[in-house]
Amino acid sequence: MALLRILHYPDPILKQVCAPIDQIDDGLRTLARDMAETMYAAPGVGLAAPQIGISRRLIVLDCSSRDEAPELLSCVNPEIVEREGEAYEEEGCLSVPEYYARVSRSARVKVRYLDLEGNRVEREADGLLAIAFQHEIDHLDGILFIDHLSPLKRGLFRKKYQKILEQEKERL
Ligand code: NI
Repeated sequence: MALLRILHYPDPILKQVCAPIDQIDDGLRTLARDMAETMYAAPGVGLAAPQIGISRRLIVLDCSSRDEAPELLSCVNPEIVEREGEAYEEEGCLSVPEYYARVSRSARVKVRYLDLEGNRVEREADGLLAIAFQHEIDHLDGILFIDHLSPLKRGLFRKKYQKILEQEKERL
């Protein structure tokens, strides 16, 4: 097990479209485990492979609440095949530290992916999990939640984020 370094915006790897995974093997399972450990340690509810510098279509999520048992999902080549309704909730991202904003999403999604044994899974999600699936699958296409902001809000984001990055540098 290992904690991985999470890349921060504007790292160019975060803007790349990730390649599909064609082989599910022990190497991939180890990577998924390390990603999950990194996500829990952050802490976060989702992490996509490009966030740790690997441009492959793999995400991990756990949207269970504090009083529920953990439910870790590791999804290979995930795809949204159906969407329904509208949601507008505040989001953050481990690659965009200290910034949160409301983003328009679908309220419910159906997602298809392979699990770490290579089984095809189809899963419906609503609430936080639906939003997390959309957020993490966006990462695989080089899209960050800030890309969904209006031009005005993006401008405000840039100013604020510049300050956040400068403060981060001072802390190092
Ligand atoms: Ni994110």
